[in-house]
Amino acid sequence: EKGGYPHFMIKEIHEQPDSIKRTIIPRIVNGMPDLSECGITVEKLREFKNIHIVACGTAMHAGMVGKYVIEQLARVPVNVDIASEFRYRNPLVGEGDLVIIISQSGETADSKAAMALAKEYGAKTLAIVNAKGSSIAREADMLIYTHAGPEIAVASTKAYMVQIAVMYLFAFQFAFAKGKITEEECKSLVSSLLEVPDKVKETLDKIMDDCQYVGSTLINADSLLYIGRGLDYALSMEGSLKLKEISYIHSESYAAGELKHGTISLITKDMPVIAVATQNQLLEKTISNVKEVKARGAYVILICDEDNTFGEDVADQIIQVPKFREELMPMLAIVPLQLIAYYTALSRGNDIDKPRNLAKSVTVE
Ligand code: F6R
Repeated sequence: EKGGYPHFMIKEIHEQPDSIKRTIIPRIVNGMPDLSECGITVEKLREFKNIHIVACGTAMHAGMVGKYVIEQLARVPVNVDIASEFRYRNPLVGEGDLVIIISQSGETADSKAAMALAKEYGAKTLAIVNAKGSSIAREADMLIYTHAGPEIAVASTKAYMVQIAVMYLFAFQFAFAKGKITEEECKSLVSSLLEVPDKVKETLDKIMDDCQYVGSTLINADSLLYIGRGLDYALSMEGSLKLKEISYIHSESYAAGELKHGTISLITKDMPVIAVATQNQLLEKTISNVKEVKARGAYVILICDEDNTFGEDVADQIIQVPKFREELMPMLAIVPLQLIAYYTALSRGNDIDKPRNLAKSVTVE
């Protein structure tokens, strides 16, 4: 049942290229995103003035990537909320707003309640769900199924990947509907998205051994920091959660520019730092933050693309993912973060697929 893999998690990490293909290909018609089978048309999209993305855990982190991508392309404000906060905050949502609920299981109690509240307040709801026929899927106004396939490992990997894929498709269509990108630009983005499955496969083949080695170096760490800027920051939130869940090592993700406002005081030689730097305009800024932590003794693992090489003054370990279109780099750069979590947990002898205290579906609040 694990198809020759030792754990479901690593099997599911390898299934990601196929999951992406299944999720995006049926939603592309003549080179353009087409979400009409999900109840989403260009005319409908034009009307939305604000977007709220509401979810829990990993699904909320997929929403963070969505925020950066949608705001950048469609120039519409996107608010990302934790479902358990949103539902008790008397949130500022109403008519003209679109509330996107992201959920692998479609049964998460807080996400379900948040969706009901959004409807009650007059907003339109769009659910992005993996489990067919689940409560959230049934109750939403519009529905995009992710086709990750069943996810067995408690720590979500392929479901997150396809949630991001859908965020991109949605952002492309929304930006086009809002007149912020031309048809040509939209087609070019879509054609790059179609290349992602092969690029993810290439990434897996390229970095597996490096990530295994990095995992073995983190075996005795007590605490780690993840840093990045922009999309890399959104991604580092998920990297940090993955590590916590299965390796039981404490970690936090920080916007790299925020470090010097307090957190840098934690840096010693015993605090490894994983820096994600795949965004060109932010590269120099992030690298200067990396140098700051390195100068204070941190063991640094840097994730960047293969066009960048850095010396020992910057990082102790460098994991280079293939170079690809910048907007889409999160779909490649998440892979080393998943693998580092996996191999760290493996070196520590943990129960990878069933981490302590966690359940796959959180149906109570
Ligand atoms: C982490 C993880 C959880 C879920 C969260 C929401 O790996 O799986 O953080 O993402 O419990 O679950 P869904 O997506 O089913 O609503």
